[in-house]
Amino acid sequence: MADSLTVRDNRTGKEYEIPISEGAIRSAEFRNIKVSAEDFGLLAYDPAFMNTASCKSKITFIDGDKGILRYRGYPIEELAERRKYLEVAYLLIYGELPSTTELRDWTHNITYHTMVHENIKKFFDGFHYDAHPMGMLVTTIAALSTFYPNAKNIFDEKTRELQIYRLIGKIPTLAAFAYRHSQGMAYIYPNNELNYAENFLTMMYRPPSTSTYEPNPVLAKALDVLFILHADHEQNCSSTAMRTVGSSHADPYSAAAAACAALYGPLHGGANEEVLKMLEEIGTKEKVPEIIRQVKAGDRLLMGFGHRVYKNYDPRAKIIKKIAEEVFEVTGRNRLLDIALELEKVALSDEYFIKRKLYPNVDFYSGLIYQAMGFPMDIFTVLFAIPRMSGWLAQWKELLQDPEQKISRPRQIYEGYPERHVPP
Ligand code: ACO
Repeated sequence: MADSLTVRDNRTGKEYEIPISEGAIRSAEFRNIKVSAEDFGLLAYDPAFMNTASCKSKITFIDGDKGILRYRGYPIEELAERRKYLEVAYLLIYGELPSTTELRDWTHNITYHTMVHENIKKFFDGFHYDAHPMGMLVTTIAALSTFYPNAKNIFDEKTRELQIYRLIGKIPTLAAFAYRHSQGMAYIYPNNELNYAENFLTMMYRPPSTSTYEPNPVLAKALDVLFILHADHEQNCSSTAMRTVGSSHADPYSAAAAACAALYGPLHGGANEEVLKMLEEIGTKEKVPEIIRQVKAGDRLLMGFGHRVYKNYDPRAKIIKKIAEEVFEVTGRNRLLDIALELEKVALSDEYFIKRKLYPNVDFYSGLIYQAMGFPMDIFTVLFAIPRMSGWLAQWKELLQDPEQKISRPRQIYEGYPERHVPP
């Protein structure tokens, strides 16, 4: 057999022929490799799924060594330049860019599902004044499942579509309500006349005393591009959470809440907030060498650097660096930018970072833009969650339509006590 692997088990001397398909072998093949009939068979041990493909996907392609990111085959650079976020969300979920009519209907469906049940406001009212917006977002996404019990019919296409409209439509509303709650400000309802990014900015910032708030078009456009860049990133930690919970056939609100919780962590979507905290702490360019020393000594991580998949400059970080200039023309230059640029310069020429292929990731510059746009630090990860909802839903839909998928259930290597008995 040409495309195969010949494995010799030195315990028994037996040889096994394992087929290779699409550059992978099926781990289940190892189960045939046994020392005796009672043996369970060989397991593949792969903590953190460093080298395990858990699905076949047609959504997002990444070549981490070359710094390539494509949604449904389209380079991220072209989508960011030529399309709006909602078109990209459609692309991720349905596989093709929408026609004019498809886009009109899609935009209408999303726009007309931006309102939340009035009782959702009571959940927000119950949160402490300093509750983290991500905590509020995770909770209220989960709470939505109780308002739409039909959402459990995940194999009914129409029902599934409706939940997709609702989740993409409502997440900016929940995000803005979380912010308004933390500011002690009245909630601003969605406005169907505005586009997705403008509507979100209006719900965030419109003073309750006026109806004439107009979001700055440059900032709304920049936010829309940031939404495109954050929409999907194949099998990352939060998409994996979405698929894992989705694999038990939970409703999409429960699965999306789990995905959102995964995104909250500082090693994932929470990193943009951590980058800003780090830059604030550094304070001046002169302190950069000392931080680099601490990082190299293993005392801390350089937040916004490194990636499980990219071993090259993250293509999203390149686009973000460009948008930053456009935004700073409107808002004025963020004083932390110089520190970030210095950190990048020093890190990219340092042997420690070169050897480990550590480059700036998507989070390194995004926080600087968000801060310049007036977003408080603890809302940064929420800004990531809003567009990632379309990616989570695309992954979830693909999972449900994949006949090979079953409930996610990894194996373990048990290292605990053998059987022992409770003393009488
Ligand atoms: N600063 C300093 N050293 C680092 C960093 C960093 N940010 N990231 C990785 N390294 C080092 C590790 O210490 C390790 O060194 P070693 O070989 O001497 O032990 C080596 O580089 C390899 O790193 P791993 O931890 O094995 O890489 P992994 O793929 O597990 O982690 C991760 C990827 C979690 C993103 C990591 O790079 C990190 O923690 N970065 C900082 C947090 C961050 O920016 N997260 C956002 C990622 S993008 C996103 O989720 C949207």
